[in-house]
Amino acid sequence: MTDVTTGDQTAGVPDNEKVLRIDGVVKRFGDNLVLDHVSFDVHKHEVVALLGPSGSGKSTLMKCINLLERVDDGQIWLGDTDITDPRINQDKSRARIGVVFQQFNLFPHMTVLNNVTLAVRKVHKWDRARAEEKAMGLLKRIGMEQKAREYPDRLSGGQQQRVAIARALMTDPELLLLDEITSALDPLLVGEVLEMVSELKDQGATILMATHEMSFAHSAADRITLLRRGRIAENGSPADVMDNSTDPETQEFFHSYRA
Ligand SMILES: Nc1ncnc2c1ncn2[C@@H]1O[C@H](COP(=O)(O)OP(=O)(O)OP(=O)(O)O)[C@@H](O)[C@H]1O
Ligand SMILES: [Mg+2]
Repeated sequence: MTDVTTGDQTAGVPDNEKVLRIDGVVKRFGDNLVLDHVSFDVHKHEVVALLGPSGSGKSTLMKCINLLERVDDGQIWLGDTDITDPRINQDKSRARIGVVFQQFNLFPHMTVLNNVTLAVRKVHKWDRARAEEKAMGLLKRIGMEQKAREYPDRLSGGQQQRVAIARALMTDPELLLLDEITSALDPLLVGEVLEMVSELKDQGATILMATHEMSFAHSAADRITLLRRGRIAENGSPADVMDNSTDPETQEFFHSYRA
């Protein structure tokens, strides 16, 4: 539902259905104003595609949500916790968010199983049995249980990225942040990773994903949030934003992917 007075796509959605609430976030690197009062929400079970030209601030926003960067102003709410409040426990907040980046960041000297279980064992102090049981369940779900004792370099890029997604799911996160997770992959391997994202969506995951895969965003996202020069330029359904926007800059942006 769109509030016609404010353009707020989230008007009428109860607060407890909002998994993530970005409220007036400002981020500067020196004189470079990278996020300029960014506000939007992600609702439970929603897949939001965060689009925008290179340098528009997508990764910076993801890092602010994952507490790898501090915001200069504004708040980020995860459920009813303001995670930008310096007094909160950052590890606890991070456990509620699963993150996957472009580079798989698997440790080459550790087996798949150890890669998947490392953070929960070291940061969250799970014992090995609990961690491995959970990890094997996740690897089984993605058809990778027979690779549990392999090292990452024996896996394809697509398989490595699926392992990285499994690792992000270990803590049953309320929110998944996916930052360009297919852009380092051989084109032939992109499909299997996107298929896994679709499966997570079907299973009810809540996902914010930065991507340049426009046809996937069009078919799989519930909502498109377009960043431009650090501001939200569009926030609406894939059809409204990608096909029917009357903004010439928006039209030009999507046209550049079709060319
Ligand atoms: N650690 C940093 N220090 C200084 N400037 C930074 C830093 N990280 C990002 N920037 C700047 O912030 C701006 C936004 O970068 P960001 O990586 O968020 O863009 P992006 O939308 O993710 O782009 P892409 O589509 O290429 O991934 C750029 O101008 C970038 O140079
Ligand atoms: Mg980026």
